[in-house]
Amino acid sequence: MSNNPYGHFDDSTREYVITRPDTPLPWLNYLGQDDFFGPITNCGGGYTFYRDAKLRRLTRYRYNEIPYDNNGRYLYIKDGDTIWSPTWKPVRTPLDKYECRHGMGYTVITAEKDGVEVEMRFFIPNEETVELWQTTVRNKSGKKKDLKLFSFIEFCFYEAQNDATNYQRTYSIGEVEVEDGIVYHKTEYRERRDHYTIFGCTRPVDGFDTCRDAFVGIHNGLHDPKVVLAGQANNSIAHGWNPIGSQQLNLSLEAGQEEQFTFVLGYIVHGTENKFDAPFVMNKSKGKALMAKYANNADVDAAFTGVQTRWEDLLSNCQIKTPNDILNRMGNTWNQAQCMATFNLSRSASMFETGIGRGMGYRDSNQDLLGFVHLVPEKARQRVLDIAATQMSSGLCFHQYQPLTKKGNADIGGGFMDDHLWLILSTTAYIKETGDRSILDENIGYADQADDAKKGTLLDHLELSIRYCMENRGPHGLPLIGHADWNDCLNLNCFSSEPNESFQLAGHGADDKIAESLMIAGLFCYASTLFADLYEYLERPEDATRIRGSYDEMVAAVDAHGWDGDWFLRAYDAYGNPVGSHKNEEGKIYIESQGWCVLGGIGVEDGRARKALDSVHEHLYFEHGCVLQQPPYTEYHLELGEVSSYPPGYKENVGVFCHNNPWIHLSLMSLGEGDRALEYYLSVCPAAKEDIIDTYRGEPYVYSQMIAGKDAATPGEAKNAWLTGTAAWTFLTVSQGFCGVKPDYNGLRLDPCVPSDWPEFEVSRKYRGATYKITVKNPNGNNKGIQSLIVDGKAIEGDVIPAAPAGATVIVEASL
Ligand code: BGC
Ligand code: NOJ
Repeated sequence: MSNNPYGHFDDSTREYVITRPDTPLPWLNYLGQDDFFGPITNCGGGYTFYRDAKLRRLTRYRYNEIPYDNNGRYLYIKDGDTIWSPTWKPVRTPLDKYECRHGMGYTVITAEKDGVEVEMRFFIPNEETVELWQTTVRNKSGKKKDLKLFSFIEFCFYEAQNDATNYQRTYSIGEVEVEDGIVYHKTEYRERRDHYTIFGCTRPVDGFDTCRDAFVGIHNGLHDPKVVLAGQANNSIAHGWNPIGSQQLNLSLEAGQEEQFTFVLGYIVHGTENKFDAPFVMNKSKGKALMAKYANNADVDAAFTGVQTRWEDLLSNCQIKTPNDILNRMGNTWNQAQCMATFNLSRSASMFETGIGRGMGYRDSNQDLLGFVHLVPEKARQRVLDIAATQMSSGLCFHQYQPLTKKGNADIGGGFMDDHLWLILSTTAYIKETGDRSILDENIGYADQADDAKKGTLLDHLELSIRYCMENRGPHGLPLIGHADWNDCLNLNCFSSEPNESFQLAGHGADDKIAESLMIAGLFCYASTLFADLYEYLERPEDATRIRGSYDEMVAAVDAHGWDGDWFLRAYDAYGNPVGSHKNEEGKIYIESQGWCVLGGIGVEDGRARKALDSVHEHLYFEHGCVLQQPPYTEYHLELGEVSSYPPGYKENVGVFCHNNPWIHLSLMSLGEGDRALEYYLSVCPAAKEDIIDTYRGEPYVYSQMIAGKDAATPGEAKNAWLTGTAAWTFLTVSQGFCGVKPDYNGLRLDPCVPSDWPEFEVSRKYRGATYKITVKNPNGNNKGIQSLIVDGKAIEGDVIPAAPAGATVIVEASL
């Protein structure tokens, strides 16, 4: 057990158990993995949406409220004069017992007060657009209890931006209907929408409310709503203002008695036909059918079991058993859960992303897929095609797209010159996982071409990505950076002096022809190697040679202009001056170009790669991970942009930007440095932070985007949990790095890199329908290098375990 006073891991159930509600920050989980999602905190906070947190939000949430985490899935218990909530919030009455179990796709919150125990199990059934709150009330007091319960949710008017800002309109559009205590939220259904939201309870109700002002009161808060204080619902019908859903249940429980029922929050697409039974009376048939589906507890239980079974099945695709418990715990469960969340939501909806600001990121989604493709390859296939369709015919890409419409937009900027290269990583990862090369022949449009006027295959898109990079190089033969590369804040063409301007939108981006990026150069080398290997697999050796020619050209440019003496330069700015050089006063060394140039294979033979990583150790590494650069910018630099806008130690200005740490871990492992790689891995790993949780503050079960760096006022403090590329890259570090199980075109390549004190480890991996039980022994305390490989009793030359037929179980024994 750790010294974390707020909770602990329960590995046997794959849950994180939170034992007091006042965590250092709201600690989040996600419900749903298909089209329906519900971020949920340990106090029931959060909201629910269909596909897109901006365009189809069903319930409201208020970000950055006081206190944090306001609005959610609430239930009030009125027991005599005492009012409390099992989720602690919003009432915050002290509880006799509280426990929140965040699990895979569900959260169970159980609380007890004065002998009444309430358990609420929140989940979204597989492939359904409904959120269930299965609620059990137990009278443990030893005497009869007469309780009044009031549920509460606040509806959102679907388009979340408008909902949060345009009150002159929204206060007059709200409409509901109520039948059998079920609230039908039908705002805009009369006009352009053919969908609505329902909120009901499977138990007969003793009253309801739909009008927020009637339920809460104008001057009361969610902690003391008027109706709950009075113990009597108003049966109010909302006309405009703010529609809510609330049911009153009067429970009379004998000593020892319990009751179970379920609140149902459903999204219904009715369709355009027969929307109304009578003028203003909506056709509720589909809503009623949904209520009927979950009317019995047994059906709710079965739906819950379905969620659990599906997760167990997904996770069984890759399970590891190494000598390090933290690695196992994260790799087997939580790291994969986070990969699922990032794949589904990209950077859209978390406690730090409002769902209004950012949709699906082009570079983000390509990277997220790397940690997801082994879970549900079919979804990954569609995702690759969706992303590719937002590339333009020039080769540039929309930097984000909306999940509901799949249309790219430039709302958060454009002209990022790394975006297109990530498509090569995701596509090749998909083919290596599945063997499905037919994806390359799929015809996909270009986002700037009308309809199908100009199509190109996925393979054409990959070619275009390589070509665009080669054709858009600067004075040193290195790739132009455009608006920015992976580091959104290295804005070398931005020159923003206008305080109200977004750094991400300022400047000319792709039109500027001087500033160059060594990070893109390294990424290009990595991606072009993948692409050339793909051509070899496709038996197109001439194309492979052509692409390797581009690789050589890029390496030559890096050799000539990208080495600073002890590390790789980061960039050349718009004046042609070096960035990330010993010649700079601040920002002398950056992390990204070290990671990517090494992963791109540059300087491996002549020792520069190792030297670069030694420099990372000397200048960037400390107990909480590797910071992004060093020393921090203490002044704003017009020619560098947002990177120099952050106070030293935070975000892209010398924060530990967790996403780029695994690039270093993988680089270290490519050079055989397994001991250092594990030390580095643990320095950023949330599960290793439990003993310093009041410093760390973030969820100990998922990565945060950033941990404050050594130059910060609060070093070691995490921000922005869940939606970060750290998830995918760290999963690669664990599964393909340490454990070394690398999907390849014709089988699984086995190339582990481990700490020398690991005597042995095991991996169970499902791959193209077969199961591989892999044991790797390390009798001589090595770090890397397969000495023997035995597959089903037969010795194999090389390090590739051939792909076996679907259904087979393959026993693999290897030694280092
Ligand atoms: C942040 C970046 C982020 C970008 C997105 C910047 O303010 O520092 O991390 O990627 O905004 O638009
Ligand atoms: C977060 C963004 O989502 C990601 O795309 C970017 O690479 C990093 N910030 C670094 O700026």
